[in-house]
Amino acid sequence: MKLAIMGAMPEEIAPILEKIGTYKTTEYAGNKYYEATYNGIDLVIAYSKIGKVFSTLTAATMIEHFGAQKLLFSGVAGAISSELKVGDLIVATKLSQHDLDITAFGHPFGYVPEGAVFVESDKTLIELSKQVASEMGLHVKEGIIATGDQFVANEERKNWIGSTFGADALEMEGGSVAVVCNALHVPFFILRAISDAADMDASFSFDAFLESSAKTSAEFVMKMVDKIGE
Ligand code: ADE
Repeated sequence: MKLAIMGAMPEEIAPILEKIGTYKTTEYAGNKYYEATYNGIDLVIAYSKIGKVFSTLTAATMIEHFGAQKLLFSGVAGAISSELKVGDLIVATKLSQHDLDITAFGHPFGYVPEGAVFVESDKTLIELSKQVASEMGLHVKEGIIATGDQFVANEERKNWIGSTFGADALEMEGGSVAVVCNALHVPFFILRAISDAADMDASFSFDAFLESSAKTSAEFVMKMVDKIGE
């Protein structure tokens, strides 16, 4: 079994590479891919760069070129739900693209013909995350994550995304990774730790908490990898 672990930014995969220690680096399509065997599991690890296009390319490459059969995403997000504070973890039950808009043709936000507003995450991986959370004594929220090619630092936009998609958190890659994995029948899991509240202070909060929240998410994902290898 080959498992992909993906982030969007270097900070999101650095703790994973550090834990693994030794790996083989391959450059492909403008990104670096790190391969290793860890606890008997073949891993391919990469950060995509920010946004839906780069994350689509990386997820598809991990699956089609590197042969990944499952994909775990680790990173940070902006909170929509007031339950979520900086450092809290959220597991996506399903994901949508909040900036996809052909409403002019009578379609709902986030929908294009032959697509779907929401793509659901793999239920087995979510179950596994619940076991890991309970073993770690952690509360991990499950909820909807909305993705778009925008860093949201605006209360009005954040509230619109929350009410339109029922979303609890927002970020810039999960929804596109979900579309790729769904189309290629690869079970996927998207985990995010909160770095900011997508409000007027978001960029400051993001800069202050990117590293620590990325680490929180990466450590949880590595516990899931341990469990997959058991
Ligand atoms: N990732 C983390 N915080 C974010 C925000 N406020 N907007 C978009 N992506 C994010």
